[in-house]
Amino acid sequence: MSGVNEIRSTFLDYFKKNGHEVVPSSPLVPRNDPTLMFTNAGMVQFKNVFTGLEQRPYSTASTAQKCVRAGGKHNDLDNVGYTARHHTFFEMLGNFSFGDYFKDRAIELAWNLITKEFGLDAKRLLVTVYHTDDEAFNLWKKIAGLPDDRIIRIATSDNFWAMGDTGPCGPCSEIFYDHGDHIWGGPPGSPEEDGDRFIEIWNLVFMQYEQVTKEERVNLPRPSIDTGMGLERVAAVLQGQHDNYDIDLFRALISASEEATGVKAEGERRASHRVIADHLRSSAFLIADGVLPSNEGRGYVLRRIMRRAMRHAELLGAREPLIYKLLPVLVQQMGRAYPELVRAEALTSETLKLEETRFRKTLERGLSLLSDATSSLGKGDMLDGETAFKLYDTYGFPLDLTQDALRARGVGVDISGFTDAMQRQKGEARSHWAGSGEKATETVWFELREKHGATEFLGYDTESAEGVIQAIVKDGAVVETASAGDKVQIVVNQTPFYGESGGQMGDAGVIATDHAKLDVSDTQKKGEGLFVHSATVSNGTIKSGDAVVLTVDHARRSRLRANHSATHLLHEALREVLGTHVAQKGSLVAPDRLRFDVSHPKPMSAEELKVVEEMANEIILQNSPVVTRLMSVDDAIAEGAMALFGEKYGDEVRVVSMGEGVRGVKAGKPYSVELCGGTHVAATGQIGLVRILSESAVGAGVRRIEALTGESAREYLAEQDDRVKTVAAALKVQPSEVLSRIEALVDERRKLERELSEAKRKLAMGGGQAGSADAVRDVAGVKFLGKAVTGVDPKDLKGLADDGKASLGSGVVTLIGVSDDGKASAVVAVTPDLIDRFSAVDLVRVASAALGGKGGGGRPDMAQAGGPDGSKAEEAIEAVASALAG
Ligand code: ALA
Repeated sequence: MSGVNEIRSTFLDYFKKNGHEVVPSSPLVPRNDPTLMFTNAGMVQFKNVFTGLEQRPYSTASTAQKCVRAGGKHNDLDNVGYTARHHTFFEMLGNFSFGDYFKDRAIELAWNLITKEFGLDAKRLLVTVYHTDDEAFNLWKKIAGLPDDRIIRIATSDNFWAMGDTGPCGPCSEIFYDHGDHIWGGPPGSPEEDGDRFIEIWNLVFMQYEQVTKEERVNLPRPSIDTGMGLERVAAVLQGQHDNYDIDLFRALISASEEATGVKAEGERRASHRVIADHLRSSAFLIADGVLPSNEGRGYVLRRIMRRAMRHAELLGAREPLIYKLLPVLVQQMGRAYPELVRAEALTSETLKLEETRFRKTLERGLSLLSDATSSLGKGDMLDGETAFKLYDTYGFPLDLTQDALRARGVGVDISGFTDAMQRQKGEARSHWAGSGEKATETVWFELREKHGATEFLGYDTESAEGVIQAIVKDGAVVETASAGDKVQIVVNQTPFYGESGGQMGDAGVIATDHAKLDVSDTQKKGEGLFVHSATVSNGTIKSGDAVVLTVDHARRSRLRANHSATHLLHEALREVLGTHVAQKGSLVAPDRLRFDVSHPKPMSAEELKVVEEMANEIILQNSPVVTRLMSVDDAIAEGAMALFGEKYGDEVRVVSMGEGVRGVKAGKPYSVELCGGTHVAATGQIGLVRILSESAVGAGVRRIEALTGESAREYLAEQDDRVKTVAAALKVQPSEVLSRIEALVDERRKLERELSEAKRKLAMGGGQAGSADAVRDVAGVKFLGKAVTGVDPKDLKGLADDGKASLGSGVVTLIGVSDDGKASAVVAVTPDLIDRFSAVDLVRVASAALGGKGGGGRPDMAQAGGPDGSKAEEAIEAVASALAG
């Protein structure tokens, strides 16, 4: 037992055997602590368990925890490479008791592990205790049998461990290993303690208190235990090494880098290999935990780490990206213990390669600028801040990289000059903003953005996280507090809430403190990267600086994700069916539906829509994983990623791919590949199904598709199905027969209508009485047929009038149709022999006037008019008769 992997599992197995729950490492980005940049100790994930805020089904636990100490309070970055035991990434082995055992059992467990399981020579071990902790002193004596001179009382904060300014804390006891007198150094507490002979391997913290504020310390509900053993350190001891970088794991990484560069890890080159090995670990683990290089926050710390490694690769003579080539060795060494490394291998590899490719473009020019600017400087001199800022701003050299580059020559950097130059640039940005004509109300966001930096978005990986309130804005102005009923906008240092962009609506959910709750209805992005939560305080009072728990409305977000992923599939399917001229013109991804606008010159046919829908559903059924990668814009376009024309993209873009193409050029390739910052389902199956509702025009050459997915689509289809069943029941047929039944009914109705109209006509004209005595009379020697009819469609009146003319042979026909609502239509017909004496048009106008209307029109032999007053039908007939009589 001596390899790192075996030591880790021996540790965990030992505590498992002793009744501990083996809990996986928590992510490097803490989910439950808004003040920590990275997880930096094993106890971080148990913070709330110690304070009693959170319950777990076990009272003792053991972990191997990934830790990063770079950026923020614990920053070991600058030392890495030059010392035997500094790392940006390390593993902390620990055992924990949450009110279960306390000092005696903790000491017993620790002593037995290192002396029995690990087989360390007890004579080489010594311990420290907090100076007032007699109990621990006596327990070490009793349990380990250590003589008094090897139990050292320490009065300083070294033996009082605190997570941070606040949080669980307590006195601690550290176990040291004596590497032997061939190495200079003295025991802890001695003047030579900084030497390298006595090395701390394990810290046992007797968690007793919680630091609530700077001044107030309270007892924890129950005394607890937190321990931390650096895996790399104990591995060095167990492998008979004095230097952490000589353990098996680092040897493997360093040999890989020796091989890739052809440069041995000796002399001055040793530090570069160590930097590369260490930074490869932190970079890969951070990327696997969702951090990507950026210019702010965690992403910037990652970028600094990566670029520092890349400069050392350059120092070793690498002319091509190097770090990503070493990744497989890391995965081979650590992938079994940390499967997330394996899962993220492709993403990590691409991210490393991309960052190195980009950085290399400016690295050489930056380094030559640096060497020109410092050629005359020697030990103890300072590089001016202006040049350091130019390296930072133009060549992407983080300040610590410039410092690292000058370190060997003993040249420093004028930090305050650097800060001044940075401030000046910010001032210019502000005046630029002031002159940009943006609304004054928006200025508040710009100022907050400048003061606090961009909000860190955690929502790709989690829907719940803690954050600290940076600002509360009410009615456009920053306020310190808000209480129940207030409508406010909240800015937090980090958030899982998605801010509306790329068509996807912002998240809703809850922000809470111990004493207050806010209902968030929307999240928007303002002032380049500030996430603004619109919320109503539902109870309690909040104030700036409060720690809050942010929880995204999960159901709503799930629907948003499904709808967003579905737009990508529809987009690709539309291109496949309609052609590659199809480009996205806009979209709306709401929780309940999606809308997608594309350029296409003509309406889509029902068949086209059907095929598009089928294709999208085909990919949904594949249930293939949705893969997100970070790439340069050029590489993304080269891979066929669809980008929104006119959209501004940064240097690096998120590329979302889903599905596997089954036909044509896409066969065997990712089906949909798009640049996208939105949130997506993990696998296409989570979309459930997509159903297109409509297709319409929204402007020249732009078509709009509206669709539903998942539960909404299912509900919609179920409703439609119910409707068909209800209709079938009403028709007394099977659903499958509804159409033929309706066609038959429509035919039958048409036939009946025809028959009915014929019958009515007959009836109206008196069943052959059209020429009957009471209707036909002689008016000044002309046969006149005048009749008022009801129940006849006005359009049938002319046909009736024709019949009338035929029955008269020679004469004038006047028919007044009276509708159900009492309005009248009049038709006058004149047989051909009489049209030079009478005009139907003139006569119908006479009728219309009598009916209270005006006008009328037609030909001399047949004319039609209307009038509002059907009760005047008889008068109208008589008026025509009088007109004939002259
Ligand atoms: N939390 C303790 C430490 O980090 C064990 O040293």
